[in-house]
Amino acid sequence: MLEQLETLAKTAETELSQLNTSEALSAWNSKYIGRKGQIPQMLRQVSQLPKEERPTFGQRANQLKKSLEAAYEQTSSVVKSAEMEQSMAEGAIDISLPGRPLSRGRLHPSTQTLRRIYQIWADMGFQIYHSRDVETDEMNFQFLNFPPHHPAREMQDTFYTTNPDLLLRTHTSPGQIHAMREFCPEPIRVILPGMCYRNEQITARSEIQFHQVEGLAVGHGIRFSDLKGTLINFTNRLYGQGRPVRFRASHFPFTEPSAEMDVECFLCDGKGCKVCKYAGWLEILGCGMVHPNVLRNGGYDPAEFSGFAFGMGPERITMLRHGIEDIRYFWGNDLRFLKQF
Ligand code: DAH
Repeated sequence: MLEQLETLAKTAETELSQLNTSEALSAWNSKYIGRKGQIPQMLRQVSQLPKEERPTFGQRANQLKKSLEAAYEQTSSVVKSAEMEQSMAEGAIDISLPGRPLSRGRLHPSTQTLRRIYQIWADMGFQIYHSRDVETDEMNFQFLNFPPHHPAREMQDTFYTTNPDLLLRTHTSPGQIHAMREFCPEPIRVILPGMCYRNEQITARSEIQFHQVEGLAVGHGIRFSDLKGTLINFTNRLYGQGRPVRFRASHFPFTEPSAEMDVECFLCDGKGCKVCKYAGWLEILGCGMVHPNVLRNGGYDPAEFSGFAFGMGPERITMLRHGIEDIRYFWGNDLRFLKQF
């Protein structure tokens, strides 16, 4: 039995010397010196030996067990540190490498223009008033002095909902009525930005959706000269101090008198170019004195109150500014276009 033990210990030692992974080491450990390993098993058989042989066997067995344990500890520490070194070499990161840039989104060109417009009007004391996209026929047309069957309605091809009285607003002007009804009888100075919708053929020049920024001032003794002065102040801030402007008589049902405002072409300084179609002037907004019927529909007595209103198109302003020739780019979501701003 002692011989058997010696042979077993020899085999175990040889095997151990050939191991080089921690998995193999732990398998070796369970096979030979673990609680159910072969060496402890043999030790337990000591009782089967004749009494006089027991001490010698026991001593030798314990010696062998201890020396195998020591050998195991040593090999295991060598293997573990080799493994650690290898994993550090494999997982090494070069912290001096440049990072990968994150691609960042940016503001839509219309949003950029809208924010400039908001800033300027806010500096001039105008509040932003948001009003709804879905309107009644009354708000979009009637209260703005478009009589039923008036030909002016045909200028604005409308998207109707399944409820024939509900439509997508064709302009931001109905917001004037909402604002007046909310603030009456206080004076008003607001801009009303928002998306508008028209049922039209989509072309390079016309889209079925576009922004407008409406403006409205109501108070005592507001005159046409206030309208002109305020709008000239605005264009000076948007297009640069001293850029010439002109007002041309026009017609809108909700203003009387009505006008259109042109600014001298800032691309050719009025000499004439492709963008201004060789006119030297760019049409930038519609405006006028709020019609007495509209004031009344908003709750104000036109004998006591007066006001002015205006409406402009941020997409048009953006197109002129950047020389964009096709309005369809705005909602086409083509990154090649959007990335340029
Ligand atoms: N609502 C007009 C349109 O869509 C724009 C407009 C013109 C608004 C004159 C106004 C205004 O407030 O006074 O064409």
